[in-house]
Amino acid sequence: MANTTVHDTIRAISWTDNRLQLLDQRRLPGEYTTLSYETVDEVADAIRDMVVRGAPAIGVTAAYGVVLAARAQFAKAGVRWASTIQADLDRLAQSRPTAVNLFWAIERMQALVSRLGHGNPEAALLAEAIAIHEEDVAANRRMGELGAALIESPCAVQTHCNTGSLATGGYGTALGVIRSAYAAGKISEVFADETRPWLQGARLTAWECVQDNIPVTLLADGAGAHLMKQGAVKWLIVGSDRIAANGDVANKIGTYHAAIAAKYHGVKLMVVAPTSTIDMAISSGDEIPIESRPDSEVLSMNGEPVAAAGAKAWNPSFDVTPAALVDAIVTERGVVLKPDREKMTELMNN
Ligand code: MRU
Repeated sequence: MANTTVHDTIRAISWTDNRLQLLDQRRLPGEYTTLSYETVDEVADAIRDMVVRGAPAIGVTAAYGVVLAARAQFAKAGVRWASTIQADLDRLAQSRPTAVNLFWAIERMQALVSRLGHGNPEAALLAEAIAIHEEDVAANRRMGELGAALIESPCAVQTHCNTGSLATGGYGTALGVIRSAYAAGKISEVFADETRPWLQGARLTAWECVQDNIPVTLLADGAGAHLMKQGAVKWLIVGSDRIAANGDVANKIGTYHAAIAAKYHGVKLMVVAPTSTIDMAISSGDEIPIESRPDSEVLSMNGEPVAAAGAKAWNPSFDVTPAALVDAIVTERGVVLKPDREKMTELMNN
């Protein structure tokens, strides 16, 4: 197997000195700053304010947030901690609406809360949060192998948003496949969409690739179709925030646009996501809640206006790519080619 470790050095979330530590992704690539969190409300704010972002990373962070909530409730309410924690979990769940990993992680922690007795819950909940974190990294490594195996011969690939170590417990989903495939000599170049308005591609994906010695070329989002037309790119590889039961995929705004261009130019679309991103309770992409973020994110950059004064903005943070445009969904449980409801059900029942 190819040695991927030289292309995997970044971790954004850690539990150190009994607190949660998050790399502040809003400040990258200019500043590398780690922030410490000791309360669940601070953790909910960190998710909402994009200190940490990316669906699996949000889930892992929320799990540690539940540990902090339980610590505070046990200190305050003693043996009654489990009956007073619910409001904290609700606030955590309200931090961002689209990434289903957030709700998945809170529900998994909640299930343990309801099994625990009246004693101090911190050690058991921390062990569960660490398990969620470690399982995510393991899932990413497995998806890396499965996704890389789909790339037949060395080629350039395009990606959207940031789906790497920063967006997950570590290694990454789509960027994990890119790490594995690059290590195996199957990728010549990574083209990263800059990903307006938060510039996850320019600030984060490009930074991760440079840190981990993976050649990266940045492009303005509007340049993607023209790039595909040149014929060099064979795969568009993206992550997801929520996949519906019929295989429709919600991901960073601009993914749908890129997927349509890919279909037209014969570029294949690979969606890489752990099964914690699959929401079988949602029948199709039409039902996925799409986060709407402030106009100011589009109208200004670093606090400086970039638009004509008086203009309004429309700022949906995600879009939905129909399953019909997807060639492969790669999960840690296996690959679904040309996804549909039947194949997604089979995957999730396995
Ligand atoms: O708004 P963000 O930065 O949280 O959006 C992130 C994405 O859309 C990612 O593509 C998605 O979460 C998959 S990451 C592994």
